[in-house]
Amino acid sequence: MKLSHPLGHSWRQALAVYLLAASMAAGAAGPIDITVRADKPGATIDPAIYGQFAEHLGRLVYEGIWVGENSQIPHTRGYRDDVTAALKELGVPVLRWPGGCFADEYNWREGIGPRAQRPRKVNTHWGGVVEDNSFGTHEFMDFAELIGADAYVNGNVGTGTPREMAEWLEYMTAEGDSSLAQLRRKNGRDQPWKVKYFAVGNETWGCGGNMRPEYYADLYRHYVTFLKAPEGNKPLRIASGANGSGLPWTEVLMREATRHMDAISVHYYTLPTGKWDVKGKATKFTEDEWWATLARTWRMEWIVTEHSKIMDKYDPEKRVGLYVDEWGTWYDVEPGTNPGFLYQQNSLRDAMVAAINLNIFHAHADRVRMTNIAQMVNVLQAMILTDKEKMLLTPTYHVFHMYKPFRGARQLPVELAAPALVRGDLTVPTVTASAARDAQGRLHYALVNLDPRSAVSLRIKVSGATPNRLSGKILTADAMDAINTFEKPDQVKPTAFNGTRIRDGALHVEIPPKAIVVLSEVVRSEVGK
Ligand code: AHR
Repeated sequence: MKLSHPLGHSWRQALAVYLLAASMAAGAAGPIDITVRADKPGATIDPAIYGQFAEHLGRLVYEGIWVGENSQIPHTRGYRDDVTAALKELGVPVLRWPGGCFADEYNWREGIGPRAQRPRKVNTHWGGVVEDNSFGTHEFMDFAELIGADAYVNGNVGTGTPREMAEWLEYMTAEGDSSLAQLRRKNGRDQPWKVKYFAVGNETWGCGGNMRPEYYADLYRHYVTFLKAPEGNKPLRIASGANGSGLPWTEVLMREATRHMDAISVHYYTLPTGKWDVKGKATKFTEDEWWATLARTWRMEWIVTEHSKIMDKYDPEKRVGLYVDEWGTWYDVEPGTNPGFLYQQNSLRDAMVAAINLNIFHAHADRVRMTNIAQMVNVLQAMILTDKEKMLLTPTYHVFHMYKPFRGARQLPVELAAPALVRGDLTVPTVTASAARDAQGRLHYALVNLDPRSAVSLRIKVSGATPNRLSGKILTADAMDAINTFEKPDQVKPTAFNGTRIRDGALHVEIPPKAIVVLSEVVRSEVGK
């Protein structure tokens, strides 16, 4: 249900107008009905939807992951132990590297061989700091193996040649005794690495070269022709995709290059104000900014729907994936930090953003087969923040952890008549939900109450299965902008949730304000009921 609302009013007023009209229509504000279609399972939720992004940006690679072999911070071969352990616990299905904008200025040959001899370059995109190349291909691949992630390498189109790109892939994957395979061995790696994903450029409409889609479509076809790897180790080839709602980009790429690609990307960032000059603060925001942020993140639903429609035209079998390989919140940097480092705090609002987006990705699992939240540590909507030897897990990390049962499960369609607020061209539902059945037959539910003031009652009917006893976790806090700090790292963390009952064949769930609940069946449902 949607109610339009005149511009100029606050989101809070929009909600009040909605609730009044809804209760007048319904007689009284009763529970919200949700139907989970266990009888109509959809696509499998690719675990790669839970991917992450690590760019040479700010304190992500250097300090966040890599402290070097001489560091006082506990580490294994230079990778800090606390971060590695947290990522292993979370499970990172895929890690994208080295950029981002950085990728289109990256020369892979400068990041191999003895570290002391690697060239020192200016990181022109991110703070103008010196990049000493001490974290290169070997360090990335070793780290990906350490945390159990598939490698997603982003190649350089902006300033690199097809030969450089082709040779990088050969260096990583060659089996025989070609000179590049020998060079890799000399640098310490005998066996080829598995490179599961390889992208041809990044944001080629912007920092990757300011290209037109027609020009890039030709360049893409050109570069990808020379990307060769041994049978069984051929990467999925990813074309650099659109900027958010830029549908013509996808149209042209799909029209000109569908048969040369396995996936096309799309990037979309959530800015509270929607403006790049003043994006909005990570903490100490108003309720209006809460709603504006969640409404802007809900735009992802439109983005994946509309790009998918174009893809369906050229690829009705859905062979080509839509990879949202950069997404998340982007705020004004924390006061006093380097503006080029994109360091921001991460609050309960970010947890909501994560949950809303994951629910959207699940619903589009037939086309959206990989996403990479930006970014892994200390940058934008990070999973983890560090301060020298200290580390904390953000609310976003906790959401990813709570959602683990969804990875690899079959998505179940959810019919949900939730109140939706409309303000100008922005719409946001006050509740979002996702459901899935895992390989063992157990059902899982993710339920999100966006309203920061009011609790919500949900009545969930499951068609095609009997509802069953559930156990689960809730993530919430007293304040909308509650955060974890290095002094108090556990202020926002999941706790056990006991707000469910089974009555009259339905699940009844009471969700407090501004909360995310993930529930799993204790035992398997009986199917066919
Ligand atoms: O994630 C930060 C930057 O955002 C990336 O480098 C770029 O691809 C995007 O514009």
